[in-house]
Amino acid sequence: MGHQQSQEHQHGHQHGHGHGHGHGHMDFAAEEMVEVLIAEGELHEGHTRQTAAWLRELVDGPVARVVDVGSGPGVAACLLAEEFPAAEVVALDPEESLLALAAERAAGLGVGDRFRTQRAVLPDELGDPGRADLVWASRSLHHVGDQQAAVTAVAGLLRPGGVLAVVEGGLSARHLPRDIGIGAPDLETRLEALGSAAYGSMRAELPGAARAVEDWPGMLAEAGLTHTGTRTFLVDLPPPLAAEDRRRVLARWRLRYGQTADAVGAEDRATLDVLLDPDSPEGILRRPDVFFLHALTVHTGRL
Ligand SMILES: C[S@@+](CC[C@H](N)C(=O)[O-])C[C@H]1O[C@@H](n2cnc3c(N)ncnc32)[C@H](O)[C@@H]1O
Repeated sequence: MGHQQSQEHQHGHQHGHGHGHGHGHMDFAAEEMVEVLIAEGELHEGHTRQTAAWLRELVDGPVARVVDVGSGPGVAACLLAEEFPAAEVVALDPEESLLALAAERAAGLGVGDRFRTQRAVLPDELGDPGRADLVWASRSLHHVGDQQAAVTAVAGLLRPGGVLAVVEGGLSARHLPRDIGIGAPDLETRLEALGSAAYGSMRAELPGAARAVEDWPGMLAEAGLTHTGTRTFLVDLPPPLAAEDRRRVLARWRLRYGQTADAVGAEDRATLDVLLDPDSPEGILRRPDVFFLHALTVHTGRL
């Protein structure tokens, strides 16, 4: 997840191959990550649907195949299947366990007959999902050391007139007012700085990581596409947040800030403990002032 280029990023972001609870093939950290990927996909539903409407205008010709690169558990891929009812949707991800969840979700939503999954690893192992009219790569290309190589690889899936949509950048999500009545004001500003630092370390540690200007329209052009616009979509869920959205926000905070003991000061740690406590009236689950405000930037290019 997700980026200041809002570079907000989960602390301890990882993809699991562990053994243990739950689905029988994921460890606890991986399960928590899956829960957050689903929660974020659901919080972002409005952005995904709005973006789909814009992309429909940009693609030259019909949309018969949509490829989602780095689909995770398939929340957006399923929304795209609904938004493009004549299209087959192919979800690609390195994680088989996430692809299984994506397929399950598609079947549950009644779009399983037009939904396929395939294991793929950017930038060199994309396989052959078939020529795409639309390629969607949301917050996945930044997991590749050489982002230009990733853009070029996904652009290579397009048919002429097809469109690549890269969701990267924007503004970090905000959830709380500046002063929440406990601890020092401006907690989220401090947490955002930590998120940026974690994102930077995540990028620096990727194989083949090289510093490069994160000019996504420039990278689309370098991949041979014509830049067809960059737009930012606001997800604006005001307070009071619906109960299910509060649970999604709490899942996000638990993963991101559950273990930041060393990184934040004692006062902020104490505030976080209250916010993460599901039983506290001042916690995210029960306080009335929680909201979800997130800006997601979409860069598009046509072949
Ligand atoms: C932050 S999640 C984004 C999930 C979803 N697209 C979204 O926007 O909510 C990043 C996804 O990229 C996938 N990913 C990580 N490295 C990848 C790679 N080298 N090639 C393709 N996908 C990758 C992860 O498994 C994960 O599902």
